[in-house]
Amino acid sequence: MEKPLPVLLDVDAGVDDTLAIAFALLSRQLDVKGITTVAGNVQVQSCTRNVLLTLEILKPLLCSLPPVVEGASKPLQKKLFTAKEVHGNDGIGNASRFYPHPSLKPQKISAVDFIIRTVQKNPHLTIIATGPLTNIALAVKKNRKVMQRVKGISVMGGAFSEFHNTGPGAEFNFYVDPHAADIVMQSGIPLRLHPLNVTEQCIVAPSHLKTLQNRALREYLLHVTKFYFDFHRRTEGFSGGYLHDPLAVAAVIDPSLFVYEACYARVESAGKYTRGMSVFFPKLNPAREAALPEWVARALRQQVSVRIAGRVNARRARKLFLRTLLAQ
Ligand code: BDR
Ligand code: CA
Repeated sequence: MEKPLPVLLDVDAGVDDTLAIAFALLSRQLDVKGITTVAGNVQVQSCTRNVLLTLEILKPLLCSLPPVVEGASKPLQKKLFTAKEVHGNDGIGNASRFYPHPSLKPQKISAVDFIIRTVQKNPHLTIIATGPLTNIALAVKKNRKVMQRVKGISVMGGAFSEFHNTGPGAEFNFYVDPHAADIVMQSGIPLRLHPLNVTEQCIVAPSHLKTLQNRALREYLLHVTKFYFDFHRRTEGFSGGYLHDPLAVAAVIDPSLFVYEACYARVESAGKYTRGMSVFFPKLNPAREAALPEWVARALRQQVSVRIAGRVNARRARKLFLRTLLAQ
């Protein structure tokens, strides 16, 4: 077997973030070097507690646990906007009431410094970002040079054409911190974006989770997802929930699950009606590129490399996710 790929998870845990964390930690192809938390679905303290609780549930299945570091408590410029109607007041579908407060503790260091240090220590590090991009943007602002050594960032974020889930034109993670998302788009770090267009193709149902072998993990994930699944039943009319964040993990394990298109990307932060809207612009031939606006020309000069997933093999992606969890 090949050496596992070093990854760092940056999460606003969150129900689907919790599925993504379990997926990444249980994958033999990934080596999770750390988990940083960021305010998003709920306040950052709750996100941190949720990550620690998930680690406690997974502990008997793992050889070692990654360090957890609490990150930004609010977006760069906007007021925090949460998604408690989707993820519950505690971020894990109000399941925390069934469990004692985790005895594991986060490291008492700055998440931005931890991210930079983890990049320095791991030359081939991939970041998997499943929340607002505040921590990553702060790390880019603090040490762009080091951050440009990152092998790539697999992002759950963005939406185009008729897709949106927050406001009329945006995806939640980009909506919450559009300034951070735009900094990361311009960072020069190779990015692979997984927008709602692909993540809404992939659904997990309660019946899938009921097949998990490990009892503690099965019960935990069924508790955590119930509220999220109920939300989808009420608002989307199906039984189950979108696998948004696990797809950003799947993309690192098996990029062939997606078809990517190279493009320039910006995120709208000033728009009155379009906060957080993803602005994706396909790469053109050089003659047509010569006539492009300044921000595209600048992106060209900086060799900004953004690849956006336009298609996913949803059946294979869900299989990979379930097989990884089922292997326990
Ligand atoms: C994203 O928003 C959050 O609510 C989910 O955790 C996911 O990261 C989907 O738009
Ligand atoms: Ca998330």
